[in-house]
Amino acid sequence: MSKQQKDLELITTADGSTTLKVVNSNDYYHSIHGAFQESQLIYINYGLAHVKQNTSINILEIGFGTGLNCLLTLNNILVEPYKLNIQYHALEPFPIPISVVNQLNYCRYLSAIIEPYFIKIHTADFNNTNAISPNFTLNKYKTGIQLFNSNILYHLVYFDAFAPSTQPEMWTEQVFEKLYHMMCKGGVLVTYCAKGQIKRDLKKVGFEVESLPGPPKKREITRAIKK
Ligand SMILES: C[S@@+](CC[C@H](N)C(=O)[O-])C[C@H]1O[C@@H](n2cnc3c(N)ncnc32)[C@H](O)[C@@H]1O
Repeated sequence: MSKQQKDLELITTADGSTTLKVVNSNDYYHSIHGAFQESQLIYINYGLAHVKQNTSINILEIGFGTGLNCLLTLNNILVEPYKLNIQYHALEPFPIPISVVNQLNYCRYLSAIIEPYFIKIHTADFNNTNAISPNFTLNKYKTGIQLFNSNILYHLVYFDAFAPSTQPEMWTEQVFEKLYHMMCKGGVLVTYCAKGQIKRDLKKVGFEVESLPGPPKKREITRAIKK
């Protein structure tokens, strides 16, 4: 792994939600044009909503970071009255200190019931199954995708690594091939990245690739489906 966790700076993005920037780098945890909107559109509307025909969903997140994608996923099943079980696995080699987590403002955009869950997901043990709610379990792994192996198959992958320009080792054919084999048939991978090379590499390993309209100031994002 080429990056050690550096000092983090709190930034307010265009929709009022916060994100983090790694000081002295170009690494942002979300789009500065709206962190909350970006996560909601890409990972929930294009990802989770697309696999909801299953009643039990296994999700793998590459890059847990601020926990926003996990929080939105949990929020989705807490506020909707149907029964859906989620097993959420998240990889994060460089967890954010709780003092920084406490400055993130995501809960103000969601129902009041979500607040205690945000701390719960951040303080959940690594390498353990944590029951966050009756139908949501969280397993966090303090490791990168390159060293991670799983004994379950995923219906949904949130691929939310730093950009290919700053962390190219995350966006390789080898990583995509590994993920392909970790997913169920019909499984979906969503990512904010719409680079041509990334889409070609996803296709090369067997995914069917779609480009979908992006969040503010981003023309397209990518959804890859294992047929
Ligand atoms: C774009 S940011 C995080 C976005 C995160 N999903 C969020 O909502 O805050 C990318 C994350 O990937 C993590 N990361 C770095 N190397 C990684 C690796 N090899 N495997 C998985 N995650 C990695 C970083 O520490 C960082 O938290």
